[in-house]
Amino acid sequence: MFAPGAGPAANPAAALGAGPDPQAGVRSFTPRRSRVTAAQRDALERLWARWGVEIDGRTPLDLPALFGGLERIVLEIGFGMGEATAEQAAADPDTGILAVDVHTPGQGNLLRLAERAGLSNLRVANGDAVTLLHAMLPPGPALAGVRVFFPDPWPKKRHHKRRLIQPAFVELAASRMAPGALLHCATDWEPYAEWMLDVLSASPSFANAAPGGAGYAPRPAGRPVTRFERQGLAKGHRVHDLLFRRTN
Ligand SMILES: C[S@@+](CC[C@H](N)C(=O)[O-])C[C@H]1O[C@@H](n2cnc3c(N)ncnc32)[C@H](O)[C@@H]1O
Repeated sequence: MFAPGAGPAANPAAALGAGPDPQAGVRSFTPRRSRVTAAQRDALERLWARWGVEIDGRTPLDLPALFGGLERIVLEIGFGMGEATAEQAAADPDTGILAVDVHTPGQGNLLRLAERAGLSNLRVANGDAVTLLHAMLPPGPALAGVRVFFPDPWPKKRHHKRRLIQPAFVELAASRMAPGALLHCATDWEPYAEWMLDVLSASPSFANAAPGGAGYAPRPAGRPVTRFERQGLAKGHRVHDLLFRRTN
């Protein structure tokens, strides 16, 4: 698909990683064969070698080295087309953003936006964020935050097991986050918001950082409106933000 040696791997979901698969083969995304535009392909071919990270489930990540010495690193899972991610990276140049998705057109788009804005604090990872957390980051305080904005809602009951926010995932994320680090989720799907609130409130590793220590948080001023959020708002959906702080 790309010039030899250029661009992300075609099937990142195949990487299973070291040790038992924490999701038992259940994936929170659907591999999509969306069309890659010429501009996205050009960005992937030119920039992947510099700013891309392949989630192979084997190679340990040295985050400070990957980000040229930046110490505050935030993981964003599922950036979609990446517009909001690029905006947040531009607004906070001292924070490194490791943005993960499996969606090739989005990866190309985000690289293009990062180049256009002259961002040096953004890296784009190709594959399953669960594999990255489980198999490529050892337990420890590597992450200053984790962002999950408008994850696939998997509305059918038989698909609820595919929702990313599950007790096991939340503890996996916690085990790679520094004390005090924020897990920030947002969704426009009311039943998933309630599900997230239940799962996160039950976690022994997080405390609700919303005012009063319970319920949904006001939308943080620094979170840009995302593409999926705009679609949800157009359908009349209410958006909920959830902010949980890693406790110890
Ligand atoms: C509904 S879209 C939202 C995209 C974006 N955050 C927005 O609000 O516009 C969810 C995205 O998460 C990605 N995704 C879901 N599970 C993932 C996982 N385990 N690892 C990496 N990306 C994932 C999907 O490929 C998809 O692009």
